[in-house]
Amino acid sequence: MEILNRFIERAKQNPQRIVLPEGEEIRTLTAANRILAESIAKIILLGDREKILQIAAENGLQNIDKAQIINPKNSEFSEKYTDLLFELRKSKGLAREEAAELVNNPLYFGCLMIKNGDADGELAGAQNTTGDVLRPALQIIKTVQGINVVSGAMMLFTKEWEYGENGFVLVADVAVLPNPTAAELAQIAVVSGNTMKNMVGVEPKVAMLSFSTKGSAKNAMVDKVVEATALAKQLAPELKIDGELQADAALVPSVGKLKCPTSDVAGNANVLIFPSLEVGNIGYKLVERLGGAIAIGPVLQGIAAPINDLSRGCSVDDIYNMIAITANQAIAAK
Ligand code: ACO
Repeated sequence: MEILNRFIERAKQNPQRIVLPEGEEIRTLTAANRILAESIAKIILLGDREKILQIAAENGLQNIDKAQIINPKNSEFSEKYTDLLFELRKSKGLAREEAAELVNNPLYFGCLMIKNGDADGELAGAQNTTGDVLRPALQIIKTVQGINVVSGAMMLFTKEWEYGENGFVLVADVAVLPNPTAAELAQIAVVSGNTMKNMVGVEPKVAMLSFSTKGSAKNAMVDKVVEATALAKQLAPELKIDGELQADAALVPSVGKLKCPTSDVAGNANVLIFPSLEVGNIGYKLVERLGGAIAIGPVLQGIAAPINDLSRGCSVDDIYNMIAITANQAIAAK
């Protein structure tokens, strides 16, 4: 977990403003209290001030008074954010009254804070579904220049030290796009490689996964991965990307060497790209639950500012780690 300690140290050195729309939620408040105690980030809690302070007092969360607390339902920023949302979405048919109503929703309010330059990143999802967290982010924050696909990467800390980066692998997409086209899959590969390089600080070796290795099977699903590999190489010639590879050919040095002796990725991959969300989401959860890996994420990629989503079953530690990771993305983006 050395990588995680690095995230925490980097966040402490350059504290970012992280907005937490689920500010009345106890796990979120407990994690925020730890973050504030350790000066890892500046925290903005959205919700009712009295209620938040009461929960904090009842649970001995003494650092919550260091957070900025804003109630979207009666905030001094509501008018300004309504104008901003209306301007951004009027071409999509949003009326001003509808914009004013949406600003009351903390998930919209948080994204508008970021868009207006009042916060650097957002983390939510302890109470809300992935779709509800992502929708305002996709509508307001949009994608980073040159990319039109948002995806979610999971960091897997496995006990298998001989694979990936001492057991660490980054896998995507596990969270957003149900059935990517070849062109979308190519973008997911490139942004995942960049997440590994820029955020984790490790040289990426990106494997495009399939049930076929270099033509061993013929199928339209394999063709998609072959095409995506070629497109990803065109998009980012500087990245080490190879495919199509089966998972063992990607991860196991002896199998990679046997099946693809000239590949600079096979057998040594540390970034694994799944052909669809179905495989990605099921695959990472199996590695986590049956393989005993620690899964941290999903880290959203391709989005113009760091917004991250939690699982509703998340722990206080998950939220604490994800706040530090969101802060690191904000630092990397600057
Ligand atoms: N990248 C970039 N933009 C996108 C993406 C994407 N992947 N998906 C949607 N958008 C944009 C659309 O272009 C649209 O923009 P516009 O309104 O400005 O034209 C906007 O987002 C809304 O798009 P819709 O398709 O109308 O939104 P919808 O709400 O139907 O779907 C969503 C988007 C929420 C991301 C949906 O694809 C989804 O629910 N995905 C699965 C999420 C999920 O449940 N994951 C598994 C759980 S996560 C876990 O277990 C770790």
